[in-house]
Amino acid sequence: MEPRILDGKAVAGRVKAGVAREVEAFRTKHGHPPGLAVILVGDNPASQTYVRNKETACREVGIDSEVYRLEASAPEEAVCRLLRQLNEKTDIHGILVQLPLPPHLDARMLVEAIRPEKDVDGFHPLNIGRLVTGEACMIPCTPRGIVTLLERSGVSIAGKHAVVVGRSNIVGKPVALLLLERHATVTVCHSRTPDLAAVTLRGDILVVAVGRPQMITGNMVKEGAVVVDVGINRLDGRLVGDVDFESVWPKAGYITPVPGGVGPMTVAMLLANTVEAAWRLTGGVPALAGRRDF
Ligand SMILES: NC(=O)c1ccc[n+]([C@@H]2O[C@H](COP(=O)([O-])OP(=O)(O)OC[C@H]3O[C@@H](n4cnc5c(N)ncnc54)[C@H](OP(=O)(O)O)[C@@H]3O)[C@@H](O)[C@H]2O)c1
Repeated sequence: MEPRILDGKAVAGRVKAGVAREVEAFRTKHGHPPGLAVILVGDNPASQTYVRNKETACREVGIDSEVYRLEASAPEEAVCRLLRQLNEKTDIHGILVQLPLPPHLDARMLVEAIRPEKDVDGFHPLNIGRLVTGEACMIPCTPRGIVTLLERSGVSIAGKHAVVVGRSNIVGKPVALLLLERHATVTVCHSRTPDLAAVTLRGDILVVAVGRPQMITGNMVKEGAVVVDVGINRLDGRLVGDVDFESVWPKAGYITPVPGGVGPMTVAMLLANTVEAAWRLTGGVPALAGRRDF
């Protein structure tokens, strides 16, 4: 059977349409839209592109975005002061610090300085703790995007063996928790896993977040598996994932393309987190609750 593409771009478009309706309902009730503040320190070209994409996406759904651009040499105290101001601003409902940061800045300390209710990246320890215990929290965007893409594409998770390759705090660990919460049996692999292929070959669902171009090849994938490629790598001037699409495609039941798979879902989930934060911070429930489709 032909594998089916997990079309992140299309699903993200539907999520964004749901977010746009929520934004409009919020604006009608409060007289202003939800607000997102992005702090960008320095001039890392990839970070600049990501921030521009976030601004564009906010504009598309009507979220007000403010980007604070600081010099690469900005002292930690200046970033903290800005975060304290943004924590207090009533028209700002989401705050994120674009990573990576210049080496003199302590990313963990700065993320902890964000009010947890406004932590739309879901990186604050309080949100991570709540994710572990299964309580309501701000869920990191890429992991939330992955499970939303699976669910919205009709992939059932319960009872499946999910293999996650990569154990980073922003992708591997949280996506493993979300899959576990949805009743998958989850195995997490990393750079010290001996005989990686023996493990990946057992995955009904295989999520790969490693940062190594095309390292997962067809002989490492179970026949009919659902393959989610989180990787974004530049190879010979083009974007490729961590999965070798050509050799995995004939084995997979479902597969995400790169680009157009997980990437668009990540941005869509940032928008969803922001509008949800706005409703929670203003003591309301989403006006379209029950009808929302994100
Ligand atoms: N599409 C999106 O929206 C999106 C969002 C975030 C990230 N990404 C991309 O996803 C990829 C991963 O990002 P990340 O932030 O999770 O990366 P990361 O923090 O560098 O973590 C990479 C993980 O891969 C593991 N690993 C490295 N080499 C391995 C090997 N040979 N075999 C098995 N595991 C290995 C590492 O193991 P150890 O822990 O043992 O070192 C680590 O846990 C990158 O390409 C990144 O650009 C995409």
